Amino acid sequence: MMMSTSRALLISFLAYASIYSCSHGFSLEKPTSRRAALETLTITPFVTTFLPSPQDVAHAADDIDSSSSLPKTTPISAQWNAIDGLNSEDKKIVSFDKSAYQAMMRDQSRTPLFEQAIVNRLKAAEPDSQIVLDLGTGPFALFAVIAAKNGAKHVYAIEASKEAAATARETIEKLGYGDKITILEGFSTDITLPEKADFAVAEIVGSVASEEGAYATIYDAHKRLLKSPNEASSWIPSRIQTYAAPASYTLQNLFLPPAFDWTKLQGEPVRFNCRDEGLQLVSNPVLIEDISFADIITKGGSQQKQVTFTVDGERVEKNKAAFLEEFKRGNPREAEGLSVTTANSISGIALWPRLLLDDNVEVNSRHFPDGGHQKSHWQTVLPIMSEIPVPVKGGDEVSVTFDFTVPTEVTTPSSYKISGSVVRS
Ligand SMILES: C[S@@+](CC[C@H](N)C(=O)[O-])C[C@H]1O[C@@H](n2cnc3c(N)ncnc32)[C@H](O)[C@@H]1O
Repeated sequence: MMMSTSRALLISFLAYASIYSCSHGFSLEKPTSRRAALETLTITPFVTTFLPSPQDVAHAADDIDSSSSLPKTTPISAQWNAIDGLNSEDKKIVSFDKSAYQAMMRDQSRTPLFEQAIVNRLKAAEPDSQIVLDLGTGPFALFAVIAAKNGAKHVYAIEASKEAAATARETIEKLGYGDKITILEGFSTDITLPEKADFAVAEIVGSVASEEGAYATIYDAHKRLLKSPNEASSWIPSRIQTYAAPASYTLQNLFLPPAFDWTKLQGEPVRFNCRDEGLQLVSNPVLIEDISFADIITKGGSQQKQVTFTVDGERVEKNKAAFLEEFKRGNPREAEGLSVTTANSISGIALWPRLLLDDNVEVNSRHFPDGGHQKSHWQTVLPIMSEIPVPVKGGDEVSVTFDFTVPTEVTTPSSYKISGSVVRS
């Protein structure tokens, strides 16, 4: 996917910034989605032109710190489409490169749990009785092979990407599952199975859970591809969720206008490694999206949800210490002031996914329920919601409406809007 010039400049700049100040996990040179290879940081000559002087930074930080003259209410907002900034071969659905598929496969906080849920589901039925659908099998036919290995009668593995489907075919032949697994290339919405499946495995979950089109895909599969689609046991995962909390972010405090213009992102969120300490939550997480695959027909996808987060003073204090460590790596002289300013500010509302595979097995991208950092190939998504970070302190309220439009058409990307205000106590 081609990047706009402004985005390319910003990305280059952030690449430098991430090395300069902290250990950020951006998807940079070629942002490739939630699964982006995070090691691809690059520095281009642009960065020297755009880097603000330390004086600029210190001056701007002072301005933010003088919170006594602040208005009682500050509006915040962001709006973006699911595929903005992500790889999309046809500009309609999110697609992945090889390194992204490998990152998913190697994710120890994900893949073994899917394996466990698939094995449990197969064990709960008569041996050699289950027809399995692996929806979005990817190039390694990962879950199809796990199902075949563990006693599925037959597996239908659907993959929209031509390249991934071709590799999946080679993979199953090599592994000797050519008779047990049928690879079907195309969108599941265009495919009719020779027989309906007993259960489906569908890891089509984005960093905002719905951003990879899960709602539309499952809506269709529910109507046509499963024997008992209203039962939770017909789906792995059975439920996908998105959690959210307002977040402080180091770089937006380090790089301020006029030297640096965050509006050039045009709403497109910044994506972080879930372990990245450069992003810290200031409130307890709240459930924003909750899509139950068994209930998908009746419960609907699009939603408006109003949430008021209260800034937690204890979190702010803890975050200060974490930010001090981050800033010390790049700029020890300014570290103290910047860590205070950053901890007492928000840049936007962070979002990340959670998957309930069955009644007993869940996959978290951030620690549950507090949203703490942990290892995951999924990313934390942060829409930047104001030109400069908005100052906050314990007890302030961040009151926003989440307006998520999640179409039932698989080739129409979901759109997301968050708007509201920070209200100082
Ligand atoms: C996140 S990857 C998962 C790959 C693999 N199942 C795994 O977990 O490692 C999702 C895959 O689903 C495919 N996909 C998403 N929606 C699809 C649909 N409606 N029909 C067919 N393939 C789809 C994508 O092309 C992508 O390869």
